Amino acid sequence: MKPVTLTTVREMKRRGEKITCLTAYDYSFASLLENAGIDMIMVGDSLGMVMQGHDSTLPVSVADMVYHARCVARGAKRALIIVDLPFMSYQQSPAHAFASAGRLMQKGGAQVVKLEGGEPMAETVRFLVERGIPVCAHLGLTPQSVHQLGGYRVQGREATAAEKIRHDAKVLQEAGASLLVLEAVPSELAKTISSDLEIPTIGIGAGPDCDGQVLVLQDMLGIYPRPSPKFSKNFMQGADSVEAAVKSYIAAVKSGAFPGSEHSFHSS
Ligand code: KIV
Repeated sequence: MKPVTLTTVREMKRRGEKITCLTAYDYSFASLLENAGIDMIMVGDSLGMVMQGHDSTLPVSVADMVYHARCVARGAKRALIIVDLPFMSYQQSPAHAFASAGRLMQKGGAQVVKLEGGEPMAETVRFLVERGIPVCAHLGLTPQSVHQLGGYRVQGREATAAEKIRHDAKVLQEAGASLLVLEAVPSELAKTISSDLEIPTIGIGAGPDCDGQVLVLQDMLGIYPRPSPKFSKNFMQGADSVEAAVKSYIAAVKSGAFPGSEHSFHSS
């Protein structure tokens, strides 16, 4: 099977084919996702919560990300591998981000690095991209800013906030980002941004009109011991194996059946 590249997912957006993505943090799950036919695997810093049991993603280090990314890369030979730059590994300066991203790629096997934030991160995105490091941007609910946001809340419900996210999305594309994750934003806003941009948008709690969808694996398998977000769905319900649950997620995203309105938010 041909590897999934950034060209592949750009083409999928152009054709209107939905892009499927799940998080994974180890070899066995990465292999399972790949065999089930997932397009992209995200080694998210959500591992701080679902693998390490922290209350947030803030304690995760670059060394943690490298370790888990390396495990995933051994299991995924076809899916595009996106790896998170963790908190404090990129915000200080573009050069700092470059050093951290380089470790994720060289030691972890990352093919794309993801960072959170809007216009203030544009210079860093440009710096990385001009030096050959593909970037996935992340707007809306950015979990590394949980304390500044006052909790894990929907973002962009009011007109001014929505306009800011829309503006940031355009600036990040202009700076060279190849993908954009939109987390916990109203469906209407995500739809507008997805049609504004040439790069694919990947939604999580951003409604059905994003170019692709991502969920945290432990949430969609219903195995995270704490409450899962409203935008997630337990695909193990009605499935007789983990592989069947993942295949049913892929089919639901490809057909547009997931996310439904019960997994989405709306503007105020
Ligand atoms: O950390 C993560 O897993 C993520 C995705 C769920 C978007 O950022």
